Amino acid sequence: MTTTIAIAGKGGTGKTTFTTMLIKYLQEERSGHILALDGDPSSNLNLCLGMPLEETVGHIREDMAQQVGSGSYNQGIPKTDYLEYRIQSALVEGERVDLIAMGRPEGPGCYCAANNILRAVIDRLGDDYGYVVIDNEAGMEHISRQTTRHIDILFIISDPTVRGLSAAENILRLTRELSGYGTRVSKTYLVINQWHGELPAAFLQRAQAAGLELIGTLPPDPQVAEFDLTGRPLIELGQDSPLYQAAKEIYRKAGL
Ligand SMILES: Nc1ncnc2c1ncn2[C@@H]1O[C@H](COP(=O)(O)OP(=O)(O)OP(=O)(O)O)[C@@H](O)[C@H]1O
Ligand SMILES: [Mg+2]
Repeated sequence: MTTTIAIAGKGGTGKTTFTTMLIKYLQEERSGHILALDGDPSSNLNLCLGMPLEETVGHIREDMAQQVGSGSYNQGIPKTDYLEYRIQSALVEGERVDLIAMGRPEGPGCYCAANNILRAVIDRLGDDYGYVVIDNEAGMEHISRQTTRHIDILFIISDPTVRGLSAAENILRLTRELSGYGTRVSKTYLVINQWHGELPAAFLQRAQAAGLELIGTLPPDPQVAEFDLTGRPLIELGQDSPLYQAAKEIYRKAGL
């Protein structure tokens, strides 16, 4: 059984940071292999994980479209086999975690046949892992475009602002609309990042009214800025980090 966890939220709210802490937690405290899926076109999860990245799914798709367009594609090789092989080679293999980056989404001249094959390959790939962790770009549409996997837990990350909450509410609404299109989400939690202590009652009421279930808050952590400044992979954050401590509490609460 694979547990699929997706992370969504407004831009810059801490999705990649939260994803990195989750992968760290699963590596340190749970057994099973992890597939990290970077859904951000500017792919930077690899830097947080300290893993190299050379190829993206977007690039493979463009390369294939170009080969087919120019007539240089070897028709003797079925496209499914070719794309499957390319995805396998693009997979960055770590000790307990493997990484695949989606790269740029399809452009206007979308090569849909390749997209459907790629989605199927990525969906199947996930079945070999104990956990699939998806770090998303802002919206939820991307999740359904990149994978049709059933999502067990969706974490929506927000900053402690009403605007952030409103974006979280939009994502929640979108997941409900998308459930008609194949992507199903079993459980959704709200996480407020960059906040220390209790949240004001009015803020909590607002979240509740929007149907958002708050699972916890993450404090600002000066160590994170230090790591960012020197480019040290965030996954190496110390056990004493207040951010990691608070994040671990959230993962346990979510039953992970
Ligand atoms: N709890 C925290 N304490 C200190 N810094 C933080 C914390 N959470 C996030 N940051 C910093 O805020 C910035 C944005 O975080 P991050 O890249 O995780 O956001 P994101 O939602 O993935 O952004 P994007 O939408 O661009 O993908 C980063 O520089 C990160 O190091
Ligand atoms: Mg990010």
